[in-house]
Parts: sequence; C-alpha cells; structure tokens
Amino acid sequence: MHNLGPFELETPFVLAPMAGITNSPFRQLMRRVGASVVVSELASANGLEYDSGRTRELLEFREGERPVGLQIFSERSELLVKAAQYIEKLGADFVDLNLGCPVSKIVKKGAGSVMCRNPVELGKVLSAMVRAVKFPVTIKIRSGWNAESVNALEVVRVAEDVGITWVAIHARTRAQGYSGEADWELIGNIKSKVKIPILGNGDINTPEKAVERLKTYAVDAVMIGRGALRNPFIFRQARELLRTGSYAIATADEYFALMDLQKKLLEMRSNARSALLQSKKFLIWYSAGFPHCKEFRQKTFSLTSFEEVWVYGREFFETHLEGRDFEFLKEDFLMGGHG
Ligand SMILES: Cc1cc2nc3c(=O)[nH]c(=O)nc-3n(C[C@H](O)[C@H](O)[C@H](O)COP(=O)(O)O)c2cc1C
Repeated sequence: MHNLGPFELETPFVLAPMAGITNSPFRQLMRRVGASVVVSELASANGLEYDSGRTRELLEFREGERPVGLQIFSERSELLVKAAQYIEKLGADFVDLNLGCPVSKIVKKGAGSVMCRNPVELGKVLSAMVRAVKFPVTIKIRSGWNAESVNALEVVRVAEDVGITWVAIHARTRAQGYSGEADWELIGNIKSKVKIPILGNGDINTPEKAVERLKTYAVDAVMIGRGALRNPFIFRQARELLRTGSYAIATADEYFALMDLQKKLLEMRSNARSALLQSKKFLIWYSAGFPHCKEFRQKTFSLTSFEEVWVYGREFFETHLEGRDFEFLKEDFLMGGHG
C-alpha cells in the first residue's frame, strides 16, 4: 500500500488532470485499468458563481472514480473558497487548485500559473481555502514562471505551511509551455527538502519511466497525463513492473475489454455528438505506433456513426496488435494544455 495524504492507495500512479479529456467517463475507465487517483479537468470557480450549467456538469463524478479530486481555477480568493466548499458538499474526495495553467487568457486574468509569482499572496489564498473546508486541498504547479524565476520550492514551502495536502509539480516553467523536457532533478531536489507529499509530473510515457522516476526521485507518487492516452494500460503495467520487475504487453482481449467499457461509459452520456467525437479521439490515440495507424486515423475521422467507429476500432486491434513502434510513442505529442 502507498500512502498519499489521507488515502491508502494500491499504487503510486495517478492520472493527471487534462481539459477535454479527464471527464467522468474517462476517469472511471482509468480507475478500472489501474490509475489509483483521478483528477477532473479544470473548472472555473467564477463560472460556478455565475451559475454556468456547463461548469456544474464538469464537476459531476461517479462513485467508481474514488478517490477523485475536482480541479478549480480562479483569480478570486473568495470564489475559490466558495467553490471548494461546494465541491466538499458534492462529496468529492479532495479539491485541487490549478496553479499551473500557462494559457494566456487565464494567466492575464490573474489565475493559473501566474498566481505562483507571488508566493506570499498565494499563501493567503491557500490558507483561506484550507480553513474553509474539512477535506484535503491539493495544488498543481509548474516549476516557475520562466528560467529566471524557478520558485517551485518556495511555493511548496508556503503550501506546506498552510496545510495543503500535497503538491503535484509539472516540472516545466510557464514560459516553456510544453517544450523541452520536464526537469525531474528539480522535483527530486524539492522532494528531498520538504515533508509535504510531492507528486512528480511530466513526460512519463512508458511504464519503465514511471517506475524509474518514482525510485530515482523518491516522490510520493508519479502523475501521468498524455502517456495514458496512447497507452491506456500504462497504469497497470507500471504497477506490475514495480511489483514484479516486469510487465506484459497489452493483449487484444485487454483492448477489447477496454473498448467495450469505454463505449458503454460514453453511451451513457446524453450528448451523442460528443460521444462520437470522443470515441474517435480516443481510438486514434490508442492506435498510435501500431502498423497502419495512419490509415486508421483517416478512416476513423470520416466515420459518422458511433457504432461503426467502435466496430472499426475492434477490427483494427484484432489485426494490428503485432509490431508496434514504441519509439514513435516517445515523440512529442499534444503539446498544449491547461497545466
Ligand atoms: C490536453 C491537455 C489538457 C490539460 N489540461 C489540464 C488541466 O485542466 N489542469 C491541469 O492542471 N493540467 C492540465 N494539463 C497538464 C497535465 O496535467 C500535465 O501536467 C502535463 O500534460 C504534463 O504531464 P504529461 O507529460 O504526463 O502529460 C493538460 C495537458 C494536456 C496535454
């Protein structure tokens, strides 16, 4: 068992929040295939205050996701406090504050990664949130604003002082966006200097890397985002590798089981158009690196029926499971997001 804050987890591998991706169906799916904690995509605390139905929808979750955290962002302390209280009432297991979003529109308003530029002010916001609720408040940050102001250690110390439960660090600066490599040395260095649990994040795209980073940098957990999109079995494989020293490549049956479950979860969504789009998006990601993935991508894009997409997906994994190019999976992928 691995302890992370108040949670006893089977594995130290956590699903990263990703806007447009880590919605309730995908979080349920990832919990079923081995992620030990899941986090929602960012939701606006301002949106919640001004009663956007869409924001409330973003914050829906199911029992099968637990432990599940809901992520919020805002430049307004009082709205973050209210949103945290709302999320506590909803019954989520923790609230996560987005302090890593590099997107200009959000940063210009004073939310996301820019809030870490002033750790003293940030401390007041975090303290207000922690005092307002009884459940865990966690944060997700970047390493700093730019190369000249890498201040993650200072932010982590402030978080520790005010009673934040853990800090997830995506070890790139805001200026880096998604370019370059995540600086795991920085993560390890911070971890060695503080008591608060640290989740290391950035560029984990293989089970080997997940286990190696966990051991080398002694983090409390490893957070995986994009890696899970091209290899949804990365959590199961990392767990196996950690426990036994090796792991099995996913079989066709595993892909079928995953696809059946995902199809069912998406079907339960009310919006048919979104279910179709999501089906295509995920199947195309899963197919990356397999022989003929390019043709698969093109044809899948052109399909218009939900059922057809899944039938075609099944056919693809039935016939092309051999000869996957794993090197291809290490290439840059999805170089933009909200954290
Ligand atoms: C499409 C996309 C959307 C993202 N949305 C969020 C988000 O809503 N909140 C957040 O904290 N991070 C978000 N991120 C950042 C990820 O959580 C993670 O920090 C980043 O992708 C690096 O980890 P990885 O290399 O394992 O993907 C997003 C990333 C991507 C690619």
